[in-house]
Amino acid sequence: MTAGKSQLYRNLAAQLEALLAGERDPIANAANMAALIYHGLPDLNWAGFYFRQDIELVLGPFQGRPACVRIPLGKGVCGAAATRAATVLVPDVHQFPGHIACDPVWHSELVVPLVEDGAVTGVLDLDSPLAGRFDEIDQAGCERLVALYVDHHRRCPG
Ligand code: SME
Repeated sequence: MTAGKSQLYRNLAAQLEALLAGERDPIANAANMAALIYHGLPDLNWAGFYFRQDIELVLGPFQGRPACVRIPLGKGVCGAAATRAATVLVPDVHQFPGHIACDPVWHSELVVPLVEDGAVTGVLDLDSPLAGRFDEIDQAGCERLVALYVDHHRRCPG
């Protein structure tokens, strides 16, 4: 299973590189990346982006049910990842103080910050209805996908 999951992320990274190639628009690329992740990984009920605007995160392209639009920096799992500039993996969101519940069946969450030139410009947020859905392979795999997105837009500004 572990080897299979690592291979799944390698395949997703290759597909993401192909989707990004030749396209500079960061919103269009984020939309395709959210769709790739949502349909490529099992047991998700939400996958998408929040982008930083001053002191809050604002909803970006995503797949899943409608979600809260604005998250203050430091609030919820997304705000924590943005403030820490580090990935936050939460096996059980009900145990995370300040978790923002957009859906009653939310159970675990993985949030990876987008760091550009040392500044957090947004986050990639994955949610699952299953407890303990995400592990260190998911973290490394999603950090790789985010790095591909950030590096692409550093080389090809929109
Ligand atoms: N649960 C998140 C809020 C965003 S939704 O999951 C899409 C949080 O606590 O930051």
